Amino acid sequence: MSKRVAIFISGGGSNMVALAKAMQAPDFGAVPALVLANNADAGGLGKAADMGIATEVVDHRPFKGDRKAFEAAILSTLAPHKIDIICLAGFMRVLTPLFINNWRGKMLNIHPSLLPKYKGLHTHQRAIDAGDTMGGCSVHEVTAELDGGPVLAQAEVPIFRLETAETLAAKVLIQEHILYPNVLKSFVNR
Ligand code: GAR
Repeated sequence: MSKRVAIFISGGGSNMVALAKAMQAPDFGAVPALVLANNADAGGLGKAADMGIATEVVDHRPFKGDRKAFEAAILSTLAPHKIDIICLAGFMRVLTPLFINNWRGKMLNIHPSLLPKYKGLHTHQRAIDAGDTMGGCSVHEVTAELDGGPVLAQAEVPIFRLETAETLAAKVLIQEHILYPNVLKSFVNR
């Protein structure tokens, strides 16, 4: 039976679109059951609705200082959708170990660096500043350590001499859209 996937986003949702399109293949083994954003302005919400995917918003701002209450709201939003797997796709909120441990082995993230290098933010600028010749992205299982769970796969791109964070991000994003659906497919069929 197809696994039901919730995709968590905060912004434009281009990885969400890549995942959702890939899941349209009948042999994928998973369906996009829900797109959840922490912000009603996330551009990906409209794209998800256009693809006929259910959307929900759990705004983090009313829960300022109370991550547990924010996550309780996420959990009750997820419940009716009978979710099997969560894919974080540009979801820019840090989840607590309590939430993460409940989804252990069932939650993936895409991160725009060659982990374990450059956990956290500003990954492309940090790779350029370090003089790296290769950048890239990683799909990993989510554990309580930020961007620290087991890496399932990576894609690399060259960093050229006049590279900027913007040009590198654009090149890496193209690879993200290929890598994440491939990893999710293997993950659900493992
Ligand atoms: C992607 O580059 C993703 O790897 C990154 O945010 C972007 C979201 O783009 N994620 C992180 O930085 C997570 N720490 P998208 O909304 O177009 O998919």
